[in-house]
Amino acid sequence: MKNNINFLDLGLQPLANNYLKKNQLNRKEKKYRLKIGINIGTKLVSINQPISSKLMFNNKYPYRSSMSKTMLKSFQNLAVLINKKFKPKKILEIGSNDGSFIKNFSKKKVIGIEPCSNVEKITKKKGFNTYPLYWNLKTAKKLLIKEGKVDLIYSANTISHIENLDEVFRSIDIILNDNGILIIEDPSLLECLKKNTYDQFYNEHIYVFSLIGLENVLKKHNFEIFHIQTLEIHGGSNRYFIKKRINKKKISSSVKDQKKKEMKYGINKISTYRKFAKRVKLSKKKLKKIFLKIILNDNKIIGYGVTAKSTTILNYCKIGNDLVSYFIDTTKAKQNKYTPGTKIPIFKYPGFIEKDIDFVFLGAWNFKKEIFKKEKNFIKRGGKFIIHTPTPKIL
Ligand code: TYD
Repeated sequence: MKNNINFLDLGLQPLANNYLKKNQLNRKEKKYRLKIGINIGTKLVSINQPISSKLMFNNKYPYRSSMSKTMLKSFQNLAVLINKKFKPKKILEIGSNDGSFIKNFSKKKVIGIEPCSNVEKITKKKGFNTYPLYWNLKTAKKLLIKEGKVDLIYSANTISHIENLDEVFRSIDIILNDNGILIIEDPSLLECLKKNTYDQFYNEHIYVFSLIGLENVLKKHNFEIFHIQTLEIHGGSNRYFIKKRINKKKISSSVKDQKKKEMKYGINKISTYRKFAKRVKLSKKKLKKIFLKIILNDNKIIGYGVTAKSTTILNYCKIGNDLVSYFIDTTKAKQNKYTPGTKIPIFKYPGFIEKDIDFVFLGAWNFKKEIFKKEKNFIKRGGKFIIHTPTPKIL
């Protein structure tokens, strides 16, 4: 990316969601150098070499937002808030995945845009109005003609996946009513730095937004953040409520408060990122040590929840099938496949952690609460989870 100062090198990484079939195991996988940098002008933090969207978001996309109760509940709560506070007549979701958010609204009211046609189809089949398209100017113009303007746009964990943010917001500008509301939700850079979750960086996550960075881009397009909610989702996310500048809605103190927190932490200083990079290197060493100690003591480790984030961890720390016997996961599209790069088998979640397992690496650490609740028996019988954030440890 132009004008970026790189501060972290996460090595060669495969496409994070490219789970391998058995017959692909002997083929050479394409890998990409994953370097992270900060833009000296906008203060946006991004990966340095974004990969074409078509390679990552296509009809084989395995991610399903409906796989976690936490996400479903969060979408449901937001839908209640939207109806109560903003009373929109027409809603658009950018990156509607398998419909977990839009299913909370009447079918006549919502439109979903989802470029991964395999997941888009799931939502369409349920009777929702969805389009298998990438979010860009062409899509916005097409929608404007077919559907007219909308009152509210929601996008969770999608805008940070699109390289050309200027086009993203120009496209939003043409389809959103002047009094309309834009709600964006993505992992928080502040939380990522604080919790050392370097695995928020992978080839799909082109950006990890801070309020300060995002605001710098929004300004250019006459958008303003008027409220911000901090969420526990995905290890700490920010939900930004945005309006057009011509809309005179009051700006809540939450925006000022978050900015203060970010400034206090030094989010605009390169030294903050250099310190982060040092912590990440140390984290790799510590995690590897934990794994090796368990294996040398003749214990078996399995993985729980295989995530795009865990692709970064496993490949960066060089943790392969010699250390993790297999992963279990509830997502059908990942089962009976192998982890990208590290080729660890993935099996269907059997409904509990099997009796012979004492150590479990938590790939889906962002759903720790939900998973710990579900695996009460494993914890009761002395089973241990391995987690890498904020520092690698056995829980
Ligand atoms: P997620 O963190 O949403 O993915 P990413 O890093 O790719 O954005 O993925 C969580 C994965 O964990 C998903 O494949 C489903 C799985 N999972 C389980 O197997 N069991 C569970 O109880 C939960 C909550 C998730």
